[in-house]
Amino acid sequence: MNPNNKKNPSLNSAFYGIIQEQEVFKYTLQNETVRVDITNLGGAITGIYLKGRDQLEKNIVAGFNDIKDYEDNPYYFGCVIGRYTNRIANGKFVLNGKTIQLSVNDGINHLHGGFEGFNKKVWKLSNTEPVEDKISVEFEYLSRDGEEGYPGNLLVKIKYTLNNKNELSIEYNADTDKATPVSLTNHSYFNLSGFESPTIYEHSLYVNAENYTEKNVNNTPTGKMIPVANTPLDFRQPKIIGKDIHQFPKDKGFDHNFVLNKNVSREIVPAAQLKDPSSGRTVTVYTDQPGVQVYTANFWDGTLKGSHGAYQQHGAIALETQAFPDSPNHPSFPDTILQPGEHYFSKTIYEFGIE
Ligand code: BGC
Repeated sequence: MNPNNKKNPSLNSAFYGIIQEQEVFKYTLQNETVRVDITNLGGAITGIYLKGRDQLEKNIVAGFNDIKDYEDNPYYFGCVIGRYTNRIANGKFVLNGKTIQLSVNDGINHLHGGFEGFNKKVWKLSNTEPVEDKISVEFEYLSRDGEEGYPGNLLVKIKYTLNNKNELSIEYNADTDKATPVSLTNHSYFNLSGFESPTIYEHSLYVNAENYTEKNVNNTPTGKMIPVANTPLDFRQPKIIGKDIHQFPKDKGFDHNFVLNKNVSREIVPAAQLKDPSSGRTVTVYTDQPGVQVYTANFWDGTLKGSHGAYQQHGAIALETQAFPDSPNHPSFPDTILQPGEHYFSKTIYEFGIE
């Protein structure tokens, strides 16, 4: 027992299937309130179970029951994204005087690490760690020099930890042998009603950002930071998501990178808070990253079925903590190039609650 008199969180694992001729498992981290299922295919969070005010337990993230569905997973449900999250314009940037061409998998751009990003890989279990009131599971993956066009062998470790304060943290570690851009995130989509409400229009959202990065017609940053004040992107006070979601016909909803307010660049700050007034469930996201991409599942169209049946447009929201999109092409953005001998570390915490 720990000092809070709560039972220590536990870890269980179960065989989930064979993918790419490798064994894939489901790992369950559980405390008295929250249960989190994670698989080593794509490092994906496949379920987060939490009771609402009505004491009914629901899975609040989009996912699939069958592991085979994670091989396709066109919307990146729950996955680790890398080597570089979000878009790189034309899949191209200059590094140490050399033009690097990445794979182009999204119109003219590189998106979420390319055709076979980290979301498609079977990760190796590297550690599980019970420490009194915490339980962790860590996966690693070696991304080879040249994969999707990226320079350098990059060894990545991702550690998921659940503690007794209902915090799920994700720690990202990486080392390289050649200079390379790195920006890692998790692509979980939340619907805090457990998808009882087919959209997140009634959820309220707070984002700790005075500015967002402006986009051009190709959905990549212009380099300008624009104040959110007097725009539909003003979430400085909690706002119902449905209020302004239809203001972006081209994006079909919110799909924007917010510039988080910080005093020091690597400080962990509250990035966003999502609340579902009907069930009372809340999630608060903290991160040391400079940005958070708010994406409201704009391209879901009811054809993809998963753990909750058919997923509808605006059925959930992803709060992707990350470096700014296309940073390798914007010297004014925080640097994302990892050098050999340097270590990449990043941490995001999801704190679950009930009101
Ligand atoms: C991006 C969207 C993209 C989506 C793909 C999000 O992280 O912000 O632009 O369409 O991922 O599922």
